[in-house]
Amino acid sequence: MFSKDFVWGCASSAFQIEGAWNEDGKGEGIWDRFCHEGNHILNGFNADTACDFYHRYKEDIAIMKQMGVKAYRFSLSWPRILPEGVGKVNEKGIAFYNAVIDELLKNGIEPYITMYHWDFPQALQDRGGWLNEESIEWFAEYAKVVSESFSDRVKYFITLNEPQCFTGIAHLHTDHAPGIKLPTKDLFQLIHNVLRAHGAAVINLRKYAKGDIKVGYAPTCGMVYPKTETPEDIEACRKYLFSCPDNMDNWTWNVPWFSDPVFLGRYPEDGLQKYAEYLPVITEEDMKLISQPLDFMGENIYNGIMLEADESGNPVYVNRYAGFPETGNGWPVTPECFRWGLKLLYERYQHPIYVTENGICCKDVLSSDGRVHDPQRIDFLNRYILAMKQAMDEGADIRGYFEWTLTDNFEWNFGFRDRFGLVYVDFRTQRRYRKDSSYWYENVIKTNGASLMQPKEILFFDPVFKQMIWGGNKMKDVFGYNIPGEKTGECWAVSAHPNGDCTVNGGLYNGKTLSTLWKENPELFGNYPTDRFPLLLKVIDAKENLSIQVHPDDTYANEHENGSLGKTECWYILECAENSTLVVGHNAKTKEELCSMIDNKQWDELIAEVPVKKGDFIQIDPGTVHAIKGDIMILETQQNSDITYRVYDYDRLTDGKPRELHLDKSKDVIEVPAKAGAVMSTESEEAVKELVSCKYYTVWKYQVNEAVTQTQSYPFMILSVTEGYGTINGLAIKKGDHFLLPAGYGEFVLEGEMTVIASAPGEC
Ligand code: FCB
Repeated sequence: MFSKDFVWGCASSAFQIEGAWNEDGKGEGIWDRFCHEGNHILNGFNADTACDFYHRYKEDIAIMKQMGVKAYRFSLSWPRILPEGVGKVNEKGIAFYNAVIDELLKNGIEPYITMYHWDFPQALQDRGGWLNEESIEWFAEYAKVVSESFSDRVKYFITLNEPQCFTGIAHLHTDHAPGIKLPTKDLFQLIHNVLRAHGAAVINLRKYAKGDIKVGYAPTCGMVYPKTETPEDIEACRKYLFSCPDNMDNWTWNVPWFSDPVFLGRYPEDGLQKYAEYLPVITEEDMKLISQPLDFMGENIYNGIMLEADESGNPVYVNRYAGFPETGNGWPVTPECFRWGLKLLYERYQHPIYVTENGICCKDVLSSDGRVHDPQRIDFLNRYILAMKQAMDEGADIRGYFEWTLTDNFEWNFGFRDRFGLVYVDFRTQRRYRKDSSYWYENVIKTNGASLMQPKEILFFDPVFKQMIWGGNKMKDVFGYNIPGEKTGECWAVSAHPNGDCTVNGGLYNGKTLSTLWKENPELFGNYPTDRFPLLLKVIDAKENLSIQVHPDDTYANEHENGSLGKTECWYILECAENSTLVVGHNAKTKEELCSMIDNKQWDELIAEVPVKKGDFIQIDPGTVHAIKGDIMILETQQNSDITYRVYDYDRLTDGKPRELHLDKSKDVIEVPAKAGAVMSTESEEAVKELVSCKYYTVWKYQVNEAVTQTQSYPFMILSVTEGYGTINGLAIKKGDHFLLPAGYGEFVLEGEMTVIASAPGEC
């Protein structure tokens, strides 16, 4: 499903894993200082040892090898390489990274180097840090050393990780090192320096490269996704994602200020206007430096917000519902933002994209069985990777995915609280435990994505109710439905018919109509080869007699009813009065006799009736004269068609007029002589009973007392609970519920005390 050269990787950063903070000549970094100050990090922890990667890199690379990881994105510690930030190179630092690189290559893992993941040399911080314009030179010098030392074996380089964070979180807020709040003007200057330093580094990485290298950049930001897939909502997303915030308390959290200069060679116009009073001097030369051509765009993506367009097309935030899924550190789980964010980024910046980070913090524990079970991480990654794949299928050029992160590590100001790893670290002993998710990821890599699980949510629908002259209010009493009136005759419980298209209620596809889903997500229905959803499931409450009718078959309907389907249907009797009958069949022996009986209104002689009781079942083929009589309630599975020919309406008047009859068409299609109306009792010793199987559908009855286990291997199945309470695979269901099990759903277990009618489409 992914191209064979798709890069499946893991990401990490030096400060978060290496430890050895002052070993082998390493200089002090701003994060060392920040930790040691004692009051910035949760519980006063520091990263002096962290994951001890400095000494254990072989172990960790061995785990990556086991997992089949193809690429490892790691960062270099600038002060380990240049203890003073510039000047004298620490050969032991270079030796360490050489050893890591060689070990990776030996194990078939492609190194991706990030030059700067936030650990600025303290010596240079003491000279003003990024706010000093000399930082451009400093970073360029560092780039030269990096390129000269490693580009003989390393092909992929990334200059900066998340400039939004190390500028904003450190200088607008003070949660990150060096934790110095700057006046707004200074912060603009600092960012301008950072961006120019990026450009200068790109130049030097290339200039001193010993081989063909690829250079990129790894910004971040919250992403967006539209409430509906209308052009208006999508445009609202585009607008929001690429505009500069008005709020000066959080203005650095945006995409365009950090990516437009780099990829488009200009600061965003709206920002230049909004921020005019704070801007540094920006020259053409600066912009040329900043926008050095790049080989790829990296982006770190974790979550996003849902937006819709207001009447003027402006983006409006859509509130999250109660109980919205979130991660162990309270970040929302929004896989949709991956699809839309990646598409919109690609659309604007037109560079091949690598997802340089994506992952989840969970409250992982080492379980009593000695293993670490992290199903939430698996589910998160599965959903996000599928969403990424969708972006790729929709045109975004995405070359790789780096899961954040290999091992649990030092999560900045949150210390060791937030575990993001595929591998659990016991920080007391430094023992590593592969979490379940690492095995899951191994399998994704091995199968190149084929093992990803398509979501198999059960789909529930909002029914469409229809008022009918013969309808009643039983659906409220029997099923608790919120019916619109006293004459509610029909409940279209699962329907994609234009006369009553049901809407998905809850879950991934909440708010979409069944006909839209049918079009947009054919995989949910096993790519069933018909142009429209093939079935229609109804509950019918006949307080009065329904008119006597007949249905055409596909051929007749197609010809006479504008390409409509014919109608084959079947009924399961939900409720009925004692001594009830249904109209099924007729007594004419020949077409002539039939026509004359109709013309002479010999209804009593013509019409045949059969007795029925609750729980009976009957198939109504096209050409069969039929009618539901008063005081009967049925569940109906039928072809997705609304074509009915009325033969006789008991001479009733609606608004003083008789309803239209369709005598000519009826005479055309009524089968003569009639087949005997075969009413069947559904009582059975067996828990599972097949009621009918025809070209259009198969219908079963499940009598659930003990657990009933079945497999959904049809393109889809629709289940209706007609009695009782219970669960399907642990999900509570009750009388009156109708739902759809999508393709590939697989095994399901029904438990409780229930009667369930199940329908699956036929082979067509
Ligand atoms: C990103 C950082 C990375 C890690 C993850 C959780 O913002 O780049 O170092 O902390 O978040």
